Amino acid sequence: MTAHPDALLTVHQLRVSFPGKGRRAPRTDVLRGVDLHVRHAETLGLVGESGSGKTTIGRAILGLVPVAAGTITFDGEPVHDAGRARRRALSRDLQVIFRDPYTSLNPSRTIGDTLSEPLLAQGGDATKARARVTRLLDQVRLPADAAGRLPREFSGGQRQRVAIARALALRPRLIVCDEPVSALDLTTQATVLDLLLDIQESTGVAYLFISHDLSVVRRMSHRVAVIHHGEIIETGDAGPVTTTPAHPYTRTLLLSAPVADVARQRDRRAQRAALRTP
Ligand SMILES: Nc1ncnc2c1ncn2[C@@H]1O[C@H](COP(=O)(O)OP(=O)(O)OP(=O)(O)O)[C@@H](O)[C@H]1O
Ligand SMILES: [Mg+2]
Repeated sequence: MTAHPDALLTVHQLRVSFPGKGRRAPRTDVLRGVDLHVRHAETLGLVGESGSGKTTIGRAILGLVPVAAGTITFDGEPVHDAGRARRRALSRDLQVIFRDPYTSLNPSRTIGDTLSEPLLAQGGDATKARARVTRLLDQVRLPADAAGRLPREFSGGQRQRVAIARALALRPRLIVCDEPVSALDLTTQATVLDLLLDIQESTGVAYLFISHDLSVVRRMSHRVAVIHHGEIIETGDAGPVTTTPAHPYTRTLLLSAPVADVARQRDRRAQRAALRTP
């Protein structure tokens, strides 16, 4: 049994490797047997340092990197071996929001065209698509006249709202959010995170929420998985994992997160040093 009983998405013993540089170089194992699951309407936060394999997990779920071993099950069906037609069908249920709102939108298409594209590609008619676009803009709190404008007329935060609207267009059941606010300033981060929480409450969509920022992950997640060198080293409820983690690596990650308070920062520098020299 590889699917978790009440899960929407189950990743089981997932292995991904990339070719080494140069013809004789050995392949690098980037994911080394990853297990995780996401339930309906749940957010699983995925944290880990740069290069630990977070994006690769997201890409494997979306069918964008080859899976060397293991299984990915969505709604009870295996998807790791899905062909092109099945992938297209899956895009109704499985969507993604990337980090960079400046490169993820086509600069020469209006917001309205960008948002109606997935609707039309799935066979929707133009009038219904227009109505849906208006509803989507409202859902992400952008004015209705945004439909006629180009991405360059919007700020980073507004573009990320467009990217969220595009992800929501087909009413997906799971969205892979890969560092969705990391490129935004702190105030904008907060409003986009609130928006994602509201959307989850009203639609029941599940998130795999990737971030290297533990405080963001704590705010967004029901449960958290910690990845280190391509392996999940700790999983549990968001509160305990992000405040009193069991694994020493998670403790280091927690202590390396910046805090506003100078005295606490100094305190934690000392704790970090103590952890390094047992
Ligand atoms: N297409 C690829 N070809 C070769 N190596 C890759 C490829 N994609 C990723 N890698 C390597 O896999 C490892 C994990 O990369 P990944 O992008 O998943 O990390 P990450 O945890 O998302 O990091 P970050 O926080 O910086 O986004 C890295 O060492 C990276 O260099
Ligand atoms: Mg990444």
